[in-house]
Amino acid sequence: MEITLVRGDITEQRADAVVNAANSSLMGGGGVDGAIHRRGGPEILEECRRLRAGHYGKGLPTGQAVATTAGRLPAKWVIHTVGPVHSKSEDRSELLASCYRESLRVADSLGARSVAFPAISTGIYGWPLDDAARIALDAVRQADTSVADVRFVLFDSAAYAVFETLL
Ligand code: AR6
Repeated sequence: MEITLVRGDITEQRADAVVNAANSSLMGGGGVDGAIHRRGGPEILEECRRLRAGHYGKGLPTGQAVATTAGRLPAKWVIHTVGPVHSKSEDRSELLASCYRESLRVADSLGARSVAFPAISTGIYGWPLDDAARIALDAVRQADTSVADVRFVLFDSAAYAVFETLL
């Protein structure tokens, strides 16, 4: 597996799958989630609604992942995962690692070979960037997957620098 870092907007990535830092409602939100639904168009939300009406009646649990169409994005699929909100009193690292592992597992089930990840939980969910980056890189490196191209798409130069130092 090759791991690369890109500075930019995840909605512009040409990859088989792009990962969405969603919330368990799957009904959209701010940050990456807002950008993916805006640029990808209503087809993504339609599929999310079907998922909520079916298997995920109570929402997608934290640390799990599920795929939909990518709509108008230059990708084949969006893999939605729900990162944990950062907590100072409880170690939720395992849930954050699970987001990466489960997203790659879903990617494998689709036959995706290239996957673009944002830095899950490091925005609205408040996770310190260096800690989240370490968890993300360890989880991806240790994953048992056929995905050959993993891309971390970092929105700003500070996030890029943190990943670069660790990698
Ligand atoms: N491309 C790449 N990275 C981005 C983009 C983008 N277009 N936009 C933001 N980032 P966040 P979370 C970076 O808040 O912390 C939503 O409301 C951002 O700078 O998108 O997991 C959901 O519905 C940060 O480093 O996700 C949930 O309720 C990283 O992506 C909640 O936010 C993740 O920030 C999820 O919060």
